[in-house]
Amino acid sequence: MPTNQTSESTRTAIETLRARAMAAAQHAYCPYSKFRVGAALISRSGAIYSGCNVENASYGLTNCAERTAIFQMVAAGETAFDAIAIYTPTLMPTAPCGACRQVLNEFNPDAEVICLCDGASSLQFRVRDLLPGAFGPANLNCQIED
Ligand code: THU
Repeated sequence: MPTNQTSESTRTAIETLRARAMAAAQHAYCPYSKFRVGAALISRSGAIYSGCNVENASYGLTNCAERTAIFQMVAAGETAFDAIAIYTPTLMPTAPCGACRQVLNEFNPDAEVICLCDGASSLQFRVRDLLPGAFGPANLNCQIED
């Protein structure tokens, strides 16, 4: 019974994140790639933050949807999240790029990453499995004796 309740509430949470990520994808600024991405995460407090990709004429300054959502969370005063959904209007799901994996790792290596699309398939990972052996906050907190 508790197992069913947990999976039911998890399903509901994922559907909420999907809806928010899909809404965010509609705001994607992607005139160069035409590749829309939306992301929505649930923070430790239970709040939902979303974001879209924001491209730039200089290309390299493009910000991915996942990082936009994370930065929204941090700007609102929170620094931990439990799950993030990434939505692309494609037939196959899209996994986060390397830069986003590093940023997600900063705010919880144990968080769930759920990649959703218009097709039937989805992907689900833990951040730590997307970035094995990550460099993170603990490295800078190390006491180095010299
Ligand atoms: N993009 C994301 O927003 N998230 C990803 O996980 C992969 C790539 C964006 C960046 C760029 O605007 C477009 O998708 C094509 O790379």
